[in-house]
Amino acid sequence: MSEFDSYLNENHDRFESDLFEWLRMPSIGTDSAYDDDTRKTAEWLAQKFIDMGLKTETIETCGHPLIYAESPKIEGAPTVLVYGHYDVQPPDPLELWDTPPFEPTVRDGKVFARGATDDKGQMITHVFGVEAYLKTKGALPIQVKFLIEGEEESGGAGLKAFLNGEYDAELPVKEKISADIAVISDCSQYGPGQPAITYGLKGITYYQVNLTGPNRDLHSGGFGGTVANPANVLCKMMAALIDENGRVQIPGFYDDVEELSDREREQFSQLGFSDQEYQDELGLNALAGEAGYTTLERRWARPTFDINGLWSGYQGEGAKTVLPAKAGAKFSCRLVPNQNPEVIQEGMRKMLEGLCPDSIEMEFIALHGAPGFVLSLDSPFMEAAADAIEQGFGVRPVFVRSGGSIPVVNAFTEMLGIDTLLLGWGQDDDNLHSPNEKFSLEDFHRGIKSSCCLWDEVAKIAN
Ligand code: BES
Ligand code: MN
Ligand code: MN
Repeated sequence: MSEFDSYLNENHDRFESDLFEWLRMPSIGTDSAYDDDTRKTAEWLAQKFIDMGLKTETIETCGHPLIYAESPKIEGAPTVLVYGHYDVQPPDPLELWDTPPFEPTVRDGKVFARGATDDKGQMITHVFGVEAYLKTKGALPIQVKFLIEGEEESGGAGLKAFLNGEYDAELPVKEKISADIAVISDCSQYGPGQPAITYGLKGITYYQVNLTGPNRDLHSGGFGGTVANPANVLCKMMAALIDENGRVQIPGFYDDVEELSDREREQFSQLGFSDQEYQDELGLNALAGEAGYTTLERRWARPTFDINGLWSGYQGEGAKTVLPAKAGAKFSCRLVPNQNPEVIQEGMRKMLEGLCPDSIEMEFIALHGAPGFVLSLDSPFMEAAADAIEQGFGVRPVFVRSGGSIPVVNAFTEMLGIDTLLLGWGQDDDNLHSPNEKFSLEDFHRGIKSSCCLWDEVAKIAN
């Protein structure tokens, strides 16, 4: 029994009902029709911090507000910066949800709702972790600062401007959020019953192209074979970006890629990953990807190219013989450490310009980018986090990488010179960004307990 258990047990049901109340608020950050709901979601969180006695601010930005809260500075003890996001992905396609996305429903020990795992449910474990600590022991042994944004899923413009010092408070931003370590719970465990600390994430570089050919849609018999078809051209362009061995064809794409060390390959292989279970779970009869690398290597440590959206021509029932005037696509590359998103972007632009015939007008838009990273495994904070997770989950965490991206981690490194502990309580099959998003309630409570224990473990590290 830990000293926190009685408070955690007494408040077990209330933690869940609070979470469900928060999940009911549709904070779809990218859709302005939900601006009022998104603000209410932020205000709900701010009120939680105020009720806990933390110094709390709602920071207005060009987009959705940031919520900032802090406990008092403890002389001689470290400071932890907890980051998370209260915005969620749009829930569509709605018809594929078994229960409505903003009516949290418990099935089989899991809560189903948009934002359950990404990131409201994971993020709030640290709010309750601090609350439980304060109620059990009266005061925290370290300083905790919370920085929670509402635009993570839509580019993070407000947070970027804040970090650039554009919303002047009484303190320069660098001092305001200065810390010894950052903590983010916005990723996954290795699997059910096997918690993990994530020490590497991929970067990303994201694009859109719009192609325009003739001045109107044409009869494909009357005009086919005489003019370039934007849909044909788009397919050719996209197909040229990757070969049959899964290698991205942008010149120089692999030049800076940090290869896996033998030691890391060995560590990945020891995790006992099953290709068969993975493909079965996805309803596939085979896997695909870059030749010469295992599935975990490709997922966690190799760069990739994927089309994210594609449109042109007739989509309705039956056949329509049209030669479309326009075609477009959204696509992105996940990047690994040492690849520079700006260099890749220039390579991408040049390659597509080279592939586009003169008679087609191409608009090339670079939407966003961030580099990938790996974190050092031998810091006392990693040890502290592993000890806290062991107390919360009853199992020692393994160290993993992930293919997702959390760009703010780079900002914390560059601006504050600190590492981030990526303590994911979710599962890879939680359906984040998909219908039927879910989060295990058992892991929710284990996350809260790990969070309580983390403050004590971090306090043991001399400042
Ligand atoms: N929480 C995810 C990132 C994530 C998910 C990391 C699973 C590791 C495992 C985050 O909310 C997210 O969706 N990130 C985007 C970032 C992008 C928009 C810059 C992503 O990875 O697509
Ligand atoms: Mn997230
Ligand atoms: Mn997300």
